[in-house]
Amino acid sequence: MSSLIVPDVRLHKSWLEGTAEFQGVHLDGAGAEAVGAEQWPLAELRDPDTFRRFTSALIADALPDAQRMEGYVPCTYRWIVDSDTFLGSIALRHELNEYLLQEGGHIGYSVRPSARRQGHAASALRGILPVAWTLGMDQVLLTCDESNAGSRATIERNDGVYEDSRNGKRRYWISRA
Ligand SMILES: CC(C)(COP(=O)(O)OP(=O)(O)OC[C@H]1O[C@@H](n2cnc3c(N)ncnc32)[C@H](O)[C@@H]1OP(=O)(O)O)[C@@H](O)C(=O)NCCC(=O)NCCS
Repeated sequence: MSSLIVPDVRLHKSWLEGTAEFQGVHLDGAGAEAVGAEQWPLAELRDPDTFRRFTSALIADALPDAQRMEGYVPCTYRWIVDSDTFLGSIALRHELNEYLLQEGGHIGYSVRPSARRQGHAASALRGILPVAWTLGMDQVLLTCDESNAGSRATIERNDGVYEDSRNGKRRYWISRA
């Protein structure tokens, strides 16, 4: 069983172990590429102080007035965990800019390779939807590469309604019940 938690420095060691499994592949929904006004190279996140600043930036990014880089919108980050074990990340972007409307969508997520095919992504997506509804959204846009069978099944499992494909991305909407 997994759950969603607010990013927390006490998971530092497990977070590093989990992200190492990606072997440099992009961490969807983790915020490591850029959150706040900074980028967060994985090597630097080994440092406890940097990791503390990173988790603070992830939390602060939900605030409309937080500093952020050009092209980024307010975002709520949650970690997918099993007790104190980091399993993955999910990000809920609060609004769509042109790029997000065409390709990126509201929500991004990833599960560490050793924890895949156990229902964690489907459950995390189900778990983040009430946060979207609480923020006042009536529907959220989900996208995945045409070739990403795992993400496609995760979205369809959560009643995503296919709209169309743009630039090789399948686009789905999940509506508030
Ligand atoms: C996509 C990803 C998040 C799926 O995570 P996961 O925890 O393994 O997914 P789940 O176990 O919750 O599975 C959800 C559904 O997807 C299916 N699925 C998962 N991985 C699959 C795969 N590689 N091929 C086919 N189906 C797959 C499951 O069978 C399940 O479908 P079902 O409920 O109909 O049986 C994970 O593979 C990942 O992190 N990939 C890299 C990052 C990424 O692609 N993120 C999404 C960007 S849009």
